Amino acid sequence: MWDTARMDVKRVVDVIRVDPATCGNGTPAERAPDPDLGTALIPAERYYAPEFMKLEWERVWTKVWLLGGRSDDITAPGDYICTEIGKESVLIVRQHDGSVRCFPNVCLHRGNRLRPEGLGNAEQFRCMYHHWTYGLDGTLDRIPDLCTFAQGGPPKMALPSFPCTEWNGFVWYSLNPDVEPFDDYISPLKQHLEPYHPERMAWKRDVTVEWDCNWKASVDAFNESYHVQGIHPQLLWYLDDTNIQIDCYERHNRYLIPFASISPRVAMPSQIPPGIAEIMTHAGMDIADYEGRIGDIRRDVQVFKRQHGQAQGKDYSELNDDQLTDDYHYMIFPNVSLNMHADDIMMFRQRPHATDPNKMLYDVWVFELVPEGAEWPKRVRHQRFRHGDKSIGLVLDQDAYNLPTVQLGMRSDSFPGLWIGEQELRIRHFHKVLDDYINAPDASL
Ligand code: FES
Ligand SMILES: [Fe+2]
Repeated sequence: MWDTARMDVKRVVDVIRVDPATCGNGTPAERAPDPDLGTALIPAERYYAPEFMKLEWERVWTKVWLLGGRSDDITAPGDYICTEIGKESVLIVRQHDGSVRCFPNVCLHRGNRLRPEGLGNAEQFRCMYHHWTYGLDGTLDRIPDLCTFAQGGPPKMALPSFPCTEWNGFVWYSLNPDVEPFDDYISPLKQHLEPYHPERMAWKRDVTVEWDCNWKASVDAFNESYHVQGIHPQLLWYLDDTNIQIDCYERHNRYLIPFASISPRVAMPSQIPPGIAEIMTHAGMDIADYEGRIGDIRRDVQVFKRQHGQAQGKDYSELNDDQLTDDYHYMIFPNVSLNMHADDIMMFRQRPHATDPNKMLYDVWVFELVPEGAEWPKRVRHQRFRHGDKSIGLVLDQDAYNLPTVQLGMRSDSFPGLWIGEQELRIRHFHKVLDDYINAPDASL
């Protein structure tokens, strides 16, 4: 009964309240000082000019670390992820010794792609054209009629290899052979994101949507909460969009959004709103028995989860209380947005189109915590479609709705650039980091 739970709740509040600012070695919650990024326009041209797209390719995409996929998709030797970024395609391959290696997905003979995008397992990669055959380590094991090539085989008789590593349940690669160490690149987010233990979460959704906008329009869309009052009116009874902490780090940034809360933009309702009821039910609370005030629900959910998590097979010990309800929303430069929650992660990978700055690929990846002792669910199937062909859920449909018209509007001679406000500080920060890469004197940044 909830009455009993309420009593327990009070005891728990007294005994194990975890202060977000001082929580163990977990995710830091303190606010970072706001950088002074000025108030200038962000030029619109960068969203559609082929010249800027070329600069991004040369100075960003081929320089940074990139998210390749999930480690648990490639557990056995020969398992591989074939993924594309712009005009390039790579193979990320599990080796016999358990390590991962990354190769360009191209046959050195006449340029055929070795594999289509997706997951697979191979004992070797045999090109479907003239049967040049590569080992899992990229070695060119067989060239039919090699003696007819007076020049011999290609250099080192192997595919070149790219830097590749695993972190926090994911595989990362870089097209830059001289890329800085991954740990330096991802700093300071290791400490922020490891406490969520994504490796304890299983695939729930794997979708790619072709969007008619520049990849940065999508990054921007998830880097601010200002649009909640504009396009997600239903979320005003779900989260507090006026009380959001923004933190900008060297390359990456985040904001923290209180969930299970009512926005001060609307009146406090007399009934528990459906979205918040869902949060309570998911936590295992009995809504019918809830006697607290609506304004107390967020705190009560946190306390309930702290108290009952262990029995539910969910280890929240590295998370602070706010993380048990809220959205800790991160952006890993340049193109990964993560909604981090105690029980799930909803993340987006925003990829540039191979040739057209007005198009992009929007990957939605959702993972859900598998309680200890529960069966690991079967992997969901990947789906790919064009914007509008299928719903991707109400909130994301709302996010997607304006992007093609934003892309069209950006090209107007009457639109010099983005007029950014304080709630959009992360957008300004993202573009500042982008500019730093674009303008780096040594483009090998
Ligand atoms: S293109 Fe691959 S073997 Fe000829
Ligand atoms: Fe949104």
